Amino acid sequence: MTGDRKFFVGGNWKMNGTKAEIAVIAKFMKTGPLSPNTEVVVGCPQCYLGYSREHLPANVGVAAQNCYKAAKGAFTGEVSPGMIKDLGCEWVILGHSERRNVFGESDQLISEKIGFALSEGLKVIPCFGEQLAERESGRTKEVVFAQLSAMKPNITDWSKVVLAYEPVWAIGTGLTASPAQAQEVHAQLRQWLRDNVSEEVANSTRIIYGGSVTAGTCKELASQPDIDGFLVGGASLKPEFVAIINAQQ
Ligand code: 13P
Repeated sequence: MTGDRKFFVGGNWKMNGTKAEIAVIAKFMKTGPLSPNTEVVVGCPQCYLGYSREHLPANVGVAAQNCYKAAKGAFTGEVSPGMIKDLGCEWVILGHSERRNVFGESDQLISEKIGFALSEGLKVIPCFGEQLAERESGRTKEVVFAQLSAMKPNITDWSKVVLAYEPVWAIGTGLTASPAQAQEVHAQLRQWLRDNVSEEVANSTRIIYGGSVTAGTCKELASQPDIDGFLVGGASLKPEFVAIINAQQ
């Protein structure tokens, strides 16, 4: 990473964790030590948001992994941004590849969710990335630009947004993108911000990488100029998460 952007490491526990397991995670995060130069946020299952907020160190932000685009009402099974805030949490992950590909969420719905979450005062980690067939057919740039373009009309405050580029083929597969592969897309994304939003937003917005990041791969990825941190799945449940948080030291 280069420039003034604060290094950002998010954990995404996905549908994992019990109270007992979360207590263990809270313990290794308390022990750390966590670099003060990294902003840390963990994405917890909705039912454990309150418990996680109570048990994790105060300098670790807590994110929901989804929310709906309305404040309340007849939306069985959904959670609103206001409920997330009511539990003391400030962040939400939206548009994760599993929301898109397992639950069929569209670019349009994700964009509307981002807009509503921001308007309700949450900070947002929008996720996006290409599938393997799209990469292999040379369409990566076209796909990620289309995903960003769909979000843009609803991103009213870029200072409250951390973009997470997660190539779908790298998620949960052990196939981390090489530092050069990830850097190439991150540089294109920053150029997209420059061309479509502003120079200032391009320079200040954190663009983090997700997809099989481990303690072993994080340092070289973190040394790339346009990689401003990570969104970590499996490894965020393990003590090696501390090493990933400290990748930049
Ligand atoms: P893994 O780190 O388990 O590949 O998951 C990445 C991810 O989807 C984070 O949101």
